[in-house]
Amino acid sequence: MNSSPWWKEATIYQIYPRSFFDSNGDGEGDLPGITSKLDYVKSLGVDAIWLSPFYTSPNKDGGYDVANPRDVDPRFGNLEDARELITQAHRRNLRVIADIVPNHFSDQHEWFQAALKSKRGSKERGRFHFYDANEDGTPPNNWISLFGGPSWTQVEDGQFYLHLFDSTQPDLNWENPEVNADFEKTLRFWIDLGVDGFRIDVAHGLIKEDVLTNHPDPQGLSNALRLDVAMDSDERNALLLTVPYFDRQGVHEIYRKWRKLFDSYTGREIMAVAEAWVHPPVNATRYVRADELHQVFNFDLLTAEFDSDVLFDVVERSISLNATVNALPTWALSNHDSPRVASRIGDEQARALALFVFGLPGSAYVFAGQELGLPDGQLQDSDRQDPTFFRTNGAIKGRDGARVPLPWGGDTKPFGFSTAKPWLPISQSWKDFTIENELADPKSSLHLYKNALELRKEFLVGAGGITWLESSQHGHKSDSLLSYSRGAITVVMNLSDSTKECDAEGKLLIVSGGTVDARDGKKVIPARSTAWFLT
Ligand code: NOJ
Repeated sequence: MNSSPWWKEATIYQIYPRSFFDSNGDGEGDLPGITSKLDYVKSLGVDAIWLSPFYTSPNKDGGYDVANPRDVDPRFGNLEDARELITQAHRRNLRVIADIVPNHFSDQHEWFQAALKSKRGSKERGRFHFYDANEDGTPPNNWISLFGGPSWTQVEDGQFYLHLFDSTQPDLNWENPEVNADFEKTLRFWIDLGVDGFRIDVAHGLIKEDVLTNHPDPQGLSNALRLDVAMDSDERNALLLTVPYFDRQGVHEIYRKWRKLFDSYTGREIMAVAEAWVHPPVNATRYVRADELHQVFNFDLLTAEFDSDVLFDVVERSISLNATVNALPTWALSNHDSPRVASRIGDEQARALALFVFGLPGSAYVFAGQELGLPDGQLQDSDRQDPTFFRTNGAIKGRDGARVPLPWGGDTKPFGFSTAKPWLPISQSWKDFTIENELADPKSSLHLYKNALELRKEFLVGAGGITWLESSQHGHKSDSLLSYSRGAITVVMNLSDSTKECDAEGKLLIVSGGTVDARDGKKVIPARSTAWFLT
């Protein structure tokens, strides 16, 4: 028996339920749709699925506006469908991670509705952040929402409530013990239904400080917190050190309590991964101290350039910082909040980077569609649904491009995703990206992922740390090659636009693109490509 917990070096497949597969012909994916495709998911060689929210929600922020965290939204099915999904996943030895959203509720949650009907100072308002207006009628402070516009919305009696995201997502007051009690109930509810872990949304945001104090540069801060706003990195880093509502010490007390709850399920190995965008990077390690959570997302690869120095720094920093708390890193190239990696850095580069990352110690997260090499969907403004687009009056296009439904098969859009018009349009140009097509093509991105994940399991899971062979600080100091060895495998990535020779020894196991040649005892790695060798 493997004594290592299942999540430690797992590959976890993120499913955005609305975009995965529509089983009932309403143009939106649903839970039975996911269940019906679990054989496909299993065939990828992943260990677990992470489901983005499917709870009762008015869907103002893609389900991250939860109106009832202990029920399923009818657009996705019902609780029986959730139970069946979990049962069928477990039957295939796939673990299930649910997404929990503790920073805020939807304004349609019964607590918020009760707060609206109650007086200032009431118990009902005390579950959120309600404050009086300033004397001049302005909001209690000048914070700007992460989706643009003010962080405060006024209610009928003149009080304001805080929302770091959309105005339909009131922030919860975690100083109020009722809030934690309710979330512990929710955690138990899903664990009892069978889930194996949680992805914790905005895990760094629950505790606020200085709620009545203005920030000296609220717009700068809001820009610094956005991946889609370009900014000088020194300026960004300086601003990120001044966020009054993220990464406060109090959040760790919450996760220590939750850890006890998880561990009370003996024999279950319940895990949790924190979505914590914190600065400086060393702070992320606090979330994975032995008595807190199990993993924390490393978001650096969502924005990193395809550059050997940048990638070396990201990998080295993440491995070494996590080691200080005896944790392993996580790696993610795409998710539902950021541009798809193939669009961001290029198709071949995305394949090369995936193969590079699959060799590393820790957990790899794969966003559904990434295995196909999908680009971002091309959308008209009239198609967009992301609140960011609306709250910035269209200045920021938002995240819908990464959320376009998956193309399953056939020659015409929507490529088997639905029998109806999909909730976001799928372009006819995705014909070559369908799962059916890629399954038939041994050189496809899909086959690369399947083969790589199989080899990862066979040779790399549990193989310990890496030894750098090529970087600007190792080996021949080439700025085109990054290479490490781990266990019996040597991984070489050529980032340049021409072939490069390297000293790697052993038998070629897999290459992300092109053909590896041998010349004068050296291996010749194709441009923009990664290869694994078995020594
Ligand atoms: C992070 C989620 O990933 C994102 O989709 C959501 O909009 C915000 N948190 C607010 O819940």
